[in-house]
Amino acid sequence: MASLNSSLFLSVLNGQKSSNPPVWMMRQAGRHLPEYLELRSQAKDFLDFCYSPAMAAEATLQPVERYDMDAAILFADILLILDAMGLNVRFEKGLGPIVQTVETGHDLDKVAVETAVQRLSPVYETVARVRSALSADKALIGFCGSPWTVALYAIEGRGGTDKSMARLWAYEKPDDLDHLLSSLVEVSAHYLAAQVKAGANALMLFESWAEGLPSDLFERLVIEPNAALVRRLHALGVTVPIIGFPRGAATMLTHYVDKVGVSAVGLDTAISPEFVNANLPSTLPVQGHLDPLLLIAGGDAMEVRVRALLKAYADRPHIFNLGHGVRPETPIAHVERVIEIVRGG
Ligand code: CP3
Repeated sequence: MASLNSSLFLSVLNGQKSSNPPVWMMRQAGRHLPEYLELRSQAKDFLDFCYSPAMAAEATLQPVERYDMDAAILFADILLILDAMGLNVRFEKGLGPIVQTVETGHDLDKVAVETAVQRLSPVYETVARVRSALSADKALIGFCGSPWTVALYAIEGRGGTDKSMARLWAYEKPDDLDHLLSSLVEVSAHYLAAQVKAGANALMLFESWAEGLPSDLFERLVIEPNAALVRRLHALGVTVPIIGFPRGAATMLTHYVDKVGVSAVGLDTAISPEFVNANLPSTLPVQGHLDPLLLIAGGDAMEVRVRALLKAYADRPHIFNLGHGVRPETPIAHVERVIEIVRGG
């Protein structure tokens, strides 16, 4: 298992500064890699792929092998948990995920917590396989979607909406929404604890749809459930570092960091390094946040921004990453160039 001494990623996540930060990229596995597309064509569908430990483990390792990334992220999806909790989840080409919607906050209670956690066993098997294949200097990140982001898919049936249905639940059916969120906290905590037991060295909480909430709703729907999840993880004996990624938190980022209890924060594309350095404790590790579109564009614009981010965070623990996931059309040579610059080239 990776120890703190041998993994640069874990030492920075634990608060060490490094002149050449560790690097990995959100969505580093997946459709920009020809070897992923080849493997993916062998699976019946995307869910099947995620539940096949052999294929999922190989997809997890692909970007680490190709790019020598400092960390692997488990190949899975934030929506597997809804499938395990009894909702029908489909991934349609060109449309993204489509989820069977809930009518009440209690619809997810039909499947017992232990049953849902047990249904996700192939994921733990993937974690174990990846951890045993990785060298000690590479960390393995486990993850789940944060409760609000996952609840949004269960209420609206898809992502990328203006969130109005789920936000209306917050005002019109507050007990239902609170119950839905606490069910998700409970299953997510056991799901993540099982990933750690199988060998994950760090965890990441993806709150991909935190943008645009009024501050009182941000407190209720983002901060409180994420804080409850972190507390529950600690109560279950989880001690690995936890990275929170509240995408679109804007100025609420400071409050999120104060209240949620994460060990590090993932920065999105929109937040400025000036805001981060002026408002977040200088000892807090930050992870981010190159625009994934610059990774497509490449050239001077990309290189200048990579160097600017390295300079901005030179005096604090920093893990180099993107502000959101790698897009399918990203050229491999641009990913290689970014890594070269981060490592001093
Ligand atoms: O390298 C990795 O990060 C791979 C593991 C991973 C996937 N999804 C695989 C995937 C992770 C960490 C996720 C997280 C995820 N899934 C999030 C949070 C991060 C973010 O991007 O904000 C969200 C919101 C989802 C939901 C989801 N899954 C969407 C919106 C889509 C379709 C559009 C898209 O961006 O790909 C998926 C499908 C999905 N998840 C694919 C992959 C590789 C593509 C499916 C395919 O290969 O056919």
